[in-house]
Amino acid sequence: MAKKLYIETVGCQMNVLDSELVVGSLRRQGYELIHEATEADVILFNTCSVRQHAEDKIYSALGRLRSHKQRHPGKIVGVLGCMAQKDQELIRRRAPHVDIVCGTGQLARLPELIAEVEKTGRPQLALSLDRQEASRLDVERSFASYDPLREPSMRPSPYQAYVRIMIGCDKFCTYCIVPQVRGPEQSRPPEHIAAEVRQLAGEGCKEVTLLGQTVNSYKHDRADGRRERLADLLARIHDTAGIERIKFITNFPRDMSDDLLDAVRELPKVCPYLHVPVQSGCNEVLKRMKRLYTVEYYRDMLARCRERVPGVAISSDFIVGFCGESEASFARSCDLVATAGFKNSFIFKYSPRPGTKGDELYADDVPEEVKKRRNNELLAIQNKVSLADHLSRIGEVVEVLVEGPSKTALKQEPGHGPIQLTGRTRTDHIVVFEGNPRLTGNTVSVRVAEATAFTLFGIVETSEQVVHDHASVAQTLAPAQAKYGQRLGLPVL
Ligand code: 5AD
Ligand code: SF4
Repeated sequence: MAKKLYIETVGCQMNVLDSELVVGSLRRQGYELIHEATEADVILFNTCSVRQHAEDKIYSALGRLRSHKQRHPGKIVGVLGCMAQKDQELIRRRAPHVDIVCGTGQLARLPELIAEVEKTGRPQLALSLDRQEASRLDVERSFASYDPLREPSMRPSPYQAYVRIMIGCDKFCTYCIVPQVRGPEQSRPPEHIAAEVRQLAGEGCKEVTLLGQTVNSYKHDRADGRRERLADLLARIHDTAGIERIKFITNFPRDMSDDLLDAVRELPKVCPYLHVPVQSGCNEVLKRMKRLYTVEYYRDMLARCRERVPGVAISSDFIVGFCGESEASFARSCDLVATAGFKNSFIFKYSPRPGTKGDELYADDVPEEVKKRRNNELLAIQNKVSLADHLSRIGEVVEVLVEGPSKTALKQEPGHGPIQLTGRTRTDHIVVFEGNPRLTGNTVSVRVAEATAFTLFGIVETSEQVVHDHASVAQTLAPAQAKYGQRLGLPVL
């Protein structure tokens, strides 16, 4: 009988991709993916360390499994990813029933680690080197980019895929643990990326999102001495047959070059959507965060994006309550959100991370209630801005890549005929509309009729030719979808 695998994922898109790849590689070893932890032979947690809350969630999930593991000592519990790399042996001290601790740079070893636990019953630790304790080259080597063969059935959607173009980060923003847990910045060779995109397209994928912590810092030095940047990479993969949309996240403001913006404008498949986190609207705070730019620089960059890429949508991230953030500093973030015209912003309360410069140098001196209030206030301003943007789009016809039934439709009994579907525009706006579930994976034109701060609601204008298009994808994906479609919330073809 096939061994059963359960995996729980928290954190960013990088983690979602890592989990997809881990499941793909274990399935090739004969594992079957299931959705009940206590039924599984191998229980994995792919973890995040960016904020304390994400870590707490994992420790409580591990706590809930403790007695289960005592009753079934043969089951294997593994902690993967950022928290594994950060906490290392500490995880086993807090949760001694954990068998495997495997960092982000060691995921390729997972099948071997599982086999070792099965054979010996002994816990296995697979970690990359500490950045402070070895040469850059040795640390780089210890953080291997994890890019095994992909499996279409393991993607959250067969029509969309993440593609890693780099790992790690060298920016060392003072609040951020990522450079420690994901290691030095390393770009993947463009040929490998292009081959992966071709493979995905061959499997029916229409939209690829290139991933990197600072994706616009991508650089690959070729043997002939030329340096390939993100703009070159976009041009290289642009003509891949079958790919309709290319997005990339997340950008660092200082690396938003004119060349890149020109590529976004000139390459029709590259979507006019840029996620460029600013983190704060106050220069003093930005300095303490070591973000390497000022608010004025950021505003100029925004203006440059809009001038070079007409119609571009820009989203951002903010941290509220960073060390020393006064009411006056916070007011500057409010002012930026009120005037910058972000499509949306992700807002986070500062969470001190041991091992970062911020935690070492500055006191976490903004009380929790103040962080909470600032978070709500900033969100309220952003929501107003988002609503105004959305309302201005009423009457427009937008091109939507259909992702599947909306959350509301998923809760309803399946029936025949149109249901509520959801998808995204090229500018990353979420659109909800009524349609046949068979439209999933197609690009349709939708006229926007209503809007809230989070969603556009519309009516489908065209869809005939796309249904035909759908048929070829259906052929390649039917077996996988029949198996996984329902679980993924996709209609079974
Ligand atoms: N506390 C709160 N938010 C953080 N982020 C990164 N580190 C922290 C931290 N220590 C946020 C930043 C980043 C996003 C992914 O998470 O806004 O852009
Ligand atoms: Fe963290 Fe800064 Fe790197 Fe982003 S750029 S991953 S915030 S260190």
